[in-house]
Amino acid sequence: MGKIISILLPKGGVGKTTSAINLAVNFALRNYKTLLIDLDPTATCSLSLGFNEENIYGDIFDIFSYSKSINSVIHPTGISNLDCIPQMKLSSVEEGRQARLISNEYLLRNIINTIENDYKFILFDCPPYLFGSTNLALIASDSVLVPIRTDEYSIEAIDDLFRRIEYINVFIIKI
Ligand SMILES: Nc1ncnc2c1ncn2[C@@H]1O[C@H](COP(=O)(O)OP(=O)(O)O)[C@@H](O)[C@H]1O
Ligand SMILES: [Mg+2]
Repeated sequence: MGKIISILLPKGGVGKTTSAINLAVNFALRNYKTLLIDLDPTATCSLSLGFNEENIYGDIFDIFSYSKSINSVIHPTGISNLDCIPQMKLSSVEEGRQARLISNEYLLRNIINTIENDYKFILFDCPPYLFGSTNLALIASDSVLVPIRTDEYSIEAIDDLFRRIEYINVFIIKI
């Protein structure tokens, strides 16, 4: 069974996407089969790996809306052992629509269960907030990696994140 890691702090610009990509590429270069899932509607992770509107044939929200299967949206990257579920860049209106789609808290966990044995590592590059797809990622993960900068707002964000993890551990599922 693989390890499923959310890379998360509810604050932008702390290095979540950079850490997710660097870790994923390094795991892959060490011959660990790795899947990197972009959950941030700004799609910086996907863009960094060369994915854009022209070559993405499905993203995580196609799975959430039951219009595609997970296997059909797994994209190979140019790096061997590294696959990606990229994300289309969303406008703010679309983003709100997507947020309403994901009310089933176990949705991502159940979907990931079906491919968990195909990968040694599954990484979620999370958006800089705790609701929506981030909440689903926390419930689907068995660990959380928290990039942080040494500033006041990052410390506050850590408090919020830990409170959320505690809530999930107590009321939903053990991370
Ligand atoms: N370890 C680091 N040291 C210095 N700059 C970094 C580091 N990690 C990321 N950055 C830079 O910080 C900026 C934000 O990083 P990013 O990974 O996009 O953050 P996030 O995903 O948390 O919003 C980028 O310009 C990136 O190049
Ligand atoms: Mg990011």
